[in-house]
Amino acid sequence: VQNRVYFDHNATTPVHPEILSKVPEWLECWGNASSIHWGGRQPKALLREARANIAKVMGVQPLELIFTAGGSEANNLALKGLAFSRLASTRKHIIISNVEHPSVRKAAEFLRQIGFKLDYVNADREGRMDLDSLREMVSEQTLFVSVMLANNETGHIYPLKEISEIVHARGAILHCDSTQALGKVPFNLKELGVDMATISGHKFYALKGAGCLFVRKGLNIESLVHGGGQERGRRAGTENTMAIASLGLMCGKADEIGSQADRIRDLRDHMEARILKEIEGVTVNGPKGLRLPNTSSLCIEGVDGETLLMNLDVRGFAVSTGAACSSGNPEPSPTLLAIGLSREEAQSSLRLSLGWGNTREEVDSFVGELIAVVGRLRGFKHGAKYVSGV
Ligand SMILES: Cc1ncc(COP(=O)(O)O)c(C=O)c1O
Repeated sequence: VQNRVYFDHNATTPVHPEILSKVPEWLECWGNASSIHWGGRQPKALLREARANIAKVMGVQPLELIFTAGGSEANNLALKGLAFSRLASTRKHIIISNVEHPSVRKAAEFLRQIGFKLDYVNADREGRMDLDSLREMVSEQTLFVSVMLANNETGHIYPLKEISEIVHARGAILHCDSTQALGKVPFNLKELGVDMATISGHKFYALKGAGCLFVRKGLNIESLVHGGGQERGRRAGTENTMAIASLGLMCGKADEIGSQADRIRDLRDHMEARILKEIEGVTVNGPKGLRLPNTSSLCIEGVDGETLLMNLDVRGFAVSTGAACSSGNPEPSPTLLAIGLSREEAQSSLRLSLGWGNTREEVDSFVGELIAVVGRLRGFKHGAKYVSGV
């Protein structure tokens, strides 16, 4: 493959060049941040600076953050840590949305196995969350509700502020997986009224191995990793200083976040407009309005998404048919099925997620290839003669 074009930033992002240039310096800070001698001072300072930057970008206090190894761990810590800290409580009911990442869904299903009652609040293909049914579902028995801020597959953004009012009216706790929102849309967790929230560094140009759980001051959760007193006893283990520092560095780039989001929205809109105009039978999964600026989830009639993905891969374009963790799995995306797409529609869907490094030239060359590949696959499917090397 000569030209590589990456349109799968919701799966993971390349590392920001500034981080790469900082790595040698960070490697010198190899001490243990808990050490009180000289070796601990620099890593401790890196963690402190990262904590301050991350807190600022999320609109929370630095000590309200718990460092984790990523988004999956933070989601597990939020749901199980809260449930385990309230085993004596009468609140044994939990609610999650039908479009959550598996790290929320499976943690909630685990809690159901150990005695919690689990309900789902539904989002639809237009990106609407059924708030009326949520209002009916939440009760004095509800311990928590977990709804993501932005969906990894469709990019839909959900109304967390309204959800927090509904949840808090019954004294329940709101967790929000904001992994896909970080660095793509600005948000302030205090204004949204969220009690716990998750982020992950590698979705935002940082090194893999760092994430964060925000837990509102005064809210107690049980640790899932017992041991040393790191993170105020809520997550034991020596911190991954370098990965955390890289996440902190990215969170300090508030200006770039805003300008990149505008640029990427223009690119995405240009790409979508061309695809919708130049290829028949394509629909956008969901509204064009309230969604992440970088994400385009398309249903391309009469084409199998996996086959399309492989054909585009051969030509150097990295795209996705859904969540990265499900690729290689011939089953259609559970999220797309959950919001109401038929099996056939879900199987014909493609997710394009753009990022900071993408250019208009890449988008235009992608659209050109997509037109050719879709045309060929459709022709193929209808028995037309095979043209040339797929
Ligand atoms: C919405 C959402 N939450 C959580 C995660 C998990 O994050 P990590 O890969 O850091 O464990 C992902 C990653 O795909 C995600 O998209």
